[in-house]
Amino acid sequence: MTDTITVRRATIDDLDDLAAIDRAGFEEREQWSRQAWADELAAADRVVLVARDTEGLAGAISIARQFDTVDLLRVVVAQRSRRRRLGERLVHEAVWHVRDADRVLLEVRHDNAAALMLYARLGFRAIDRRPDYYGPGLHAVVMQSDLPWEALS
Ligand SMILES: CC(C)(COP(=O)(O)OP(=O)(O)OC[C@H]1O[C@@H](n2cnc3c(N)ncnc32)[C@H](O)[C@@H]1OP(=O)(O)O)[C@@H](O)C(=O)NCCC(=O)NCCS
Repeated sequence: MTDTITVRRATIDDLDDLAAIDRAGFEEREQWSRQAWADELAAADRVVLVARDTEGLAGAISIARQFDTVDLLRVVVAQRSRRRRLGERLVHEAVWHVRDADRVLLEVRHDNAAALMLYARLGFRAIDRRPDYYGPGLHAVVMQSDLPWEALS
């Protein structure tokens, strides 16, 4: 149940778990390394959150803020915790930290049905398409949602 899950800012102590949940959640060519996650944690413009339950890391998210635009860079939920609205919760909690920005942007692979459904449910709309962004035949859908979100006020 997501209500037994604690969401907080990630620290360097979460690094191994972040790399592990990423490996489990993404195909090899799209995985972020331990160093990439370390860079996320070190970057001043990032909000990196982790969701933990008694079994360990259940999910993670990283967003970046540049001026009035927020980029949703990564969201991943452990298989055992999926379809319990944790992905939705992580997006809400991360965006809450930058809620005075104007918009949230993201890129998602055109065939990632779960993520496309999640973002559509959160109110994102497709605004562009980047052919072959993730490799040959693997296009990116660029999505945007304008802030503020009523759910965050
Ligand atoms: C995408 C991901 C983060 C979703 O996490 P989640 O916690 O399972 O999502 P939620 O439970 O918050 O889903 C909220 C809504 O999104 C939609 N959704 C989520 N996963 C879905 C799926 N597999 N199929 C269809 N709809 C889905 C549903 O509308 C769902 O609401 P519902 O369960 O009441 O129908 C998760 O599947 C994941 O980690 N995938 C691998 C990493 C990834 O692709 N990240 C996104 C990269 S852009």
